[in-house]
Amino acid sequence: MAIDVQEATPTAAEYCDLRVVCGLSPMTIEAAEARLPRTLFGVALRDDGRLVGMGRLVGDGIHVQVVDIVVRPDYQRRGLPRTIMEKIMSYVESSIPECAVVSLFADVDWLYPKFGFGSPEKSRGMLFKRRPQREAARFSTCLISVFSI
Ligand SMILES: CC(C)(COP(=O)(O)OP(=O)(O)OC[C@H]1O[C@@H](n2cnc3c(N)ncnc32)[C@H](O)[C@@H]1OP(=O)(O)O)[C@@H](O)C(=O)NCCC(=O)NCCS
Repeated sequence: MAIDVQEATPTAAEYCDLRVVCGLSPMTIEAAEARLPRTLFGVALRDDGRLVGMGRLVGDGIHVQVVDIVVRPDYQRRGLPRTIMEKIMSYVESSIPECAVVSLFADVDWLYPKFGFGSPEKSRGMLFKRRPQREAARFSTCLISVFSI
C-alpha cells in the first residue's frame, strides 16, 4: 500500500463523507463548500485516489487550531496519524509565528503529546453548543470553541 500524502484539502463531498464514516459530527455540504477553502493548511492521504485520511490547520495565523484529524476505519492502526501530524507540525514550525497559539481538542489523549501538545495549566477548552444535544447531530454545521490563553 503506497499512500499518497498531499498538502491539500479534500473536496467538500469527501470531507463530509469521511467525517461521518469516522464517527465525527456531520457537516452540511453547503457549509463545507463555503468554508473548506479557508483552511490554513491541509493534509489529504489518498490510496489510489480515494481519500483515506486527513487533517487541517485553521485560523488566522495568530490563533490556529488543529482539526479534523481523521483516518478511515479500514486504514487505522497503521500509523497514518503520525504522517498527518508531522506535515501539520512542519507547517507550524516553518510558517506560523512563534508567538501564535496552536490549540486542539483531543478526542483521544494519546495522539498529541508526542507532537508537543499538553493540557494548558490555566485554561480550559469549551464548546459552544448551538442546539440541544439530541438535535446537534442533525443540525450542527460548525463548532465554535473558546480558549482563554
Ligand atoms: C483517532 C484516529 C485518527 C487514530 O488513528 P489510528 O489509525 O487508529 O491511529 P494509530 O493506531 O495509527 O495510532 C497512532 C499512534 O498512537 C499510538 N497509539 C494508538 N493507540 C494508543 C493508545 N491506546 N495509547 C497510546 N498510544 C496509542 C500508536 O502506537 C501510534 O503511535 P506512533 O505514531 O508513534 O506509531 C482514528 O482512530 C480516527 O480517525 N478516529 C475517528 C476520528 C477521531 O476521533 N478523530 C479525532 C481525534 S482527536
